[in-house]
Amino acid sequence: MGSSKVSHSFVQELLSRIDIVDIISHYLTLKQSGRNFVALCPFHPEKTPSFVVSPEKQIFKCFGCGVGGNAITFVQQYENLSFFEAVKRVAEIAGVELPREAFSEDSSTVEVEEAGLKAARYFYSHYERVEDYLLERGVDRKTAEKFLLGYAPPGYLRELKIKDEALTQLGLKSSKGREFFRERLIIPIFNHSGKVVAFAGRALKEGQEPKYINSPESSLFKKNSTLYGFYQSKEFILKKRKAIIVEGYFDVISLFRLSVYGVVAPMGTSLTENHVRFLKRYTHSPILMFDGDSAGRKATIRSAGILFKFGAEPLVVQLPDGEDPDSMARSSPDLLKELLSRPIPFIDWAVETVKSLPSVERPELLRQVALAVAELRDINPFLFKDYLSRLSAEFGIDETWLKSQLPRVRRREESGLSEEPIPIYEKAFLRALLEGVALPVEVSPNIFVSQKVAKLYSLISQTGERDATALQTLYPELSALISDVLFMEISEEELRRYVCRVLVKELERRLKRVSDISEKVTLKKLVFELKKGNFEIVEQLQTIN
Ligand code: UTP
Ligand code: MN
Repeated sequence: MGSSKVSHSFVQELLSRIDIVDIISHYLTLKQSGRNFVALCPFHPEKTPSFVVSPEKQIFKCFGCGVGGNAITFVQQYENLSFFEAVKRVAEIAGVELPREAFSEDSSTVEVEEAGLKAARYFYSHYERVEDYLLERGVDRKTAEKFLLGYAPPGYLRELKIKDEALTQLGLKSSKGREFFRERLIIPIFNHSGKVVAFAGRALKEGQEPKYINSPESSLFKKNSTLYGFYQSKEFILKKRKAIIVEGYFDVISLFRLSVYGVVAPMGTSLTENHVRFLKRYTHSPILMFDGDSAGRKATIRSAGILFKFGAEPLVVQLPDGEDPDSMARSSPDLLKELLSRPIPFIDWAVETVKSLPSVERPELLRQVALAVAELRDINPFLFKDYLSRLSAEFGIDETWLKSQLPRVRRREESGLSEEPIPIYEKAFLRALLEGVALPVEVSPNIFVSQKVAKLYSLISQTGERDATALQTLYPELSALISDVLFMEISEEELRRYVCRVLVKELERRLKRVSDISEKVTLKKLVFELKKGNFEIVEQLQTIN
């Protein structure tokens, strides 16, 4: 992946010109509470707000799930953007102009993305060649323009006048140097931030096989994390916190034509964990609307399992057998909209669906449903238990037996839920540093129990940067720790005591190394005084460096 950079000084300027409260209000409804603002955390399900924004400190933190950071890292996490993209987005929301010289985008990335759009426009300029086909499928010009649907005429490689390297990256040229998408309907693939990074081509003639071909993956195009249609519905999804997951390109396009927005489809594969990790940022309850046949049912259950694993609670729209959203959009748009207005919780759908099957098919489907539900075990044990009792009651199976049929519980560490606990005195020490307290001696990062504290401390002492928001943007992986440290309720007195404790550790470390007797005596005395809480002694520490 190419690297795009933005200058540190611009980031600092941006942070100083914006207010985190304004930025977060763009996404969440904040309520004033004392000196801070609170909201329901968008990063984990909750009923009472534990998400806190501090206008004084210009940071946020969730006391429920531990995420934290500044305005930029919030947008980065909320919209799942790269740091670079998040900076641009924050500037856009705040109406701050972007100085060109502050950005140095990786030139090859920009080149390929520009070539992608150029090619898409070129194919769209041959729209007349697919107009009849599209109209027959109910797709009007306006919708075609929105998705830049077009046609790849023979000879396009020459006519495009795009460099070879970009043509290969975009999948427009095969490995043998041939035209990859000849005489096909072209569906440009926009990535989530709106760049054309790949193409799909649909057969137009009888016997043209396969029905769809797609550009191969590249550094800019990863199938298992791209959702088709997301970009076109991004604003809608952000605002309404709603998304509908369907199977194919034309499901997305036809629904858009009916003014049904927020529809996304995986790239010809089934839904992946990456897709869900991404979508989960926007909606807690996506709607699954797959084909109304047995394959569609299986895909619904499988997808629900992945959604459960990430704590989402999927809803389902069941289509009549033999229909898909695209066919329904043409044959019975009113019924389709009606069904979409009342999606049902997955568990209700599952019970109903299993019951509707001939009895020989039931056990297998029920097993699949139970496996999907089992994904909830770690992340939402109550719901897991609730759903399991529901299944056992509906189908007259013993709950213990049902449980025993499920894969064994993953240990907490494996599911990545456990975080190393950080000693309070180490956090307090960081707090003192961030508040600008000068250290009388240099401390070795090795004395810290927490790896994260050690890392942050090293960074602070290497760069001399002590500004919390600056540090958060420089090291997003330490964002949560920094917010945590700044939100600590701690008195001056306690702060001093904890700093002493760290200094003692450092002096003890040095004690082990010195051989000079008089040096040893001095150090021991200092340790003794520090342990007594005699902070004034700290002044004397300067002399031992
Ligand atoms: P379907 O075969 O269900 O096609 O594939 P569809 O969406 O109904 O297509 P139309 O309506 O006939 O045009 C669903 C999705 O699977 C992928 C595509 O992403 C398609 O949208 N697919 C399908 C392929 O990648 N290659 C294929 O040959 C077929
Ligand atoms: Mn179809």
